[in-house]
Amino acid sequence: MPFFRLIVFLIIAARSALAVSQQCGASPRQVRAGYWLSSSGRYSPVSTIDVSLYTHIYYFSLSVDPLDSTISISQPDELPLLAVFSATLKKDSSSVKTLLSIATDAHRIEESNAAFSAMAADPIRRAAFIESTMEIAREHSFDGLDLSWQYPSSPADMANLQLLLAEWRARVGNETVETEREPESPLLLTATVYFSGHLFGGSDDNVDYPIDAISRNLDWINVLCFGYQKNSKVAAADAALFAKTSHSSTSYGIGSWLDSGVASCKMVMGIPLYGRSWYLKNKEKTEPGAAVVAEGPRQRSSNQSGVMAYFEVEETLRDNGSTLVYDKETVFAYLHHGDLWVSFDNPEAVEEKINFARHKDLLGYFLFPISFDDSNHTISQHAFDAWSSYGADGGSNGDQEVSSRGTSHGDQDARQAAEISGSITWFPNLNANVLFSFLLLIFLVFIHG
Ligand SMILES: *[C@@H]1O[C@H](CO)[C@@H](O)[C@H](O)[C@H]1NC(C)=O
Ligand SMILES: *[C@@H]1O[C@H](CO)[C@@H](O)[C@H](O)[C@H]1NC(C)=O
Ligand SMILES: *[C@@H]1O[C@H](CO)[C@@H](O)[C@H](O)[C@H]1NC(C)=O
Ligand SMILES: *[C@@H]1O[C@H](CO)[C@@H](O)[C@H](O)[C@H]1NC(C)=O
Repeated sequence: MPFFRLIVFLIIAARSALAVSQQCGASPRQVRAGYWLSSSGRYSPVSTIDVSLYTHIYYFSLSVDPLDSTISISQPDELPLLAVFSATLKKDSSSVKTLLSIATDAHRIEESNAAFSAMAADPIRRAAFIESTMEIAREHSFDGLDLSWQYPSSPADMANLQLLLAEWRARVGNETVETEREPESPLLLTATVYFSGHLFGGSDDNVDYPIDAISRNLDWINVLCFGYQKNSKVAAADAALFAKTSHSSTSYGIGSWLDSGVASCKMVMGIPLYGRSWYLKNKEKTEPGAAVVAEGPRQRSSNQSGVMAYFEVEETLRDNGSTLVYDKETVFAYLHHGDLWVSFDNPEAVEEKINFARHKDLLGYFLFPISFDDSNHTISQHAFDAWSSYGADGGSNGDQEVSSRGTSHGDQDARQAAEISGSITWFPNLNANVLFSFLLLIFLVFIHG
């Protein structure tokens, strides 16, 4: 029966290759995304976006109507913005893609998440949601849709999310057939997700994202690699790349998604364009870990206390009396000015993070939100340059830097990276499974030939 066995192995090999191409095949080659805040339209109009710095621009955001689970346009001034968003951006670049984020409303988190839960739990509501997202996307010339539910918080939510993603994808596929559009025209589907594939800190310890449904149905996920210290009672790094004593780091989060089985070619890493601020208890005690008495001031940009735009961080830094510190070990910057303390990503931190994303062979990065950059687009430009120039000076430079830092922290990242780096050099999108099948095939052909 050797011939029969050969056929079986052929089928297995073909199926694994297909699984990988299904995971990676349809994705774009790279994503350099920016989230634009519709609530910032007054001080950061769409026309000021430098389209050349991004491949994808997200309109952030609309929410779910709790009554009928369709998309709700709650602000009356939102409709004219939606109407011009894609047209304005595509006037300057025909290749840029626009996506519409359906998100949890930061000012009404509980209500907003309850609306997501109710929608996902009911087949009729899911269908109404899906129809309404697609209608509004087509009406305003968006190229895709994004689900930014922050966050599904129970096993039931996650099970319903699985159904929602499958039905959404099926409907997007059907639409293409119905209208006989060009093959590249189906709407993109993405989700903006928690920094790790497992949710921490909720009442239930059993809340994991539906990895299979994500890999199967989404073009990619945008991983929220920031906000780690939202509720901290001490001054701390809100978006550190590495952490010595906790899971609150981007390297941990990205590693957890990779370990759960989402392919690196489906993963886009978040970089914050905001800083997290606090008032120190004692303005002489300014090290990370110092006691704080309150969140920092409500800012004009964010309309939230404790959240400061990058351009406001720069303004504060220009003030006499400001001190800037960059922590190379964990990769974050902070400033202190009197009793104000702000954790943020400076250009150096952004560059390190981009190198990390490149080293992990991720699909790309996203900046959140680009409305918070300064008028020179300093951070967006810096991220763009770091992404484009990675590997240009021999390639191994960036690798070694990331590896040695990882090892010095006893981090698993470096070891994992070293294990896979041999294979990714040649076949960025192949996993061990496929390589194994190919080797088996070659072996079989050899012994039968
Ligand atoms: C997609 O189209 C098929 C065939 O027309 C139909 O049976 C199926 O219900 C449709 N699915 C969705 C989600 O619309
Ligand atoms: C600012 O936030 C408050 C709620 O915290 C909200 O009522 C108000 O509309 C927001 N203002 C703007 C300009 O978005
Ligand atoms: C900054 O403050 C120091 C001490 O308070 C003062 O000597 C210096 O002149 C100030 N510089 C500027 C540019 O205001
Ligand atoms: C923008 O760049 C110009 C020229 O380099 C500089 O003079 C200006 O201060 C910068 N503005 C900001 C907000 O960084």
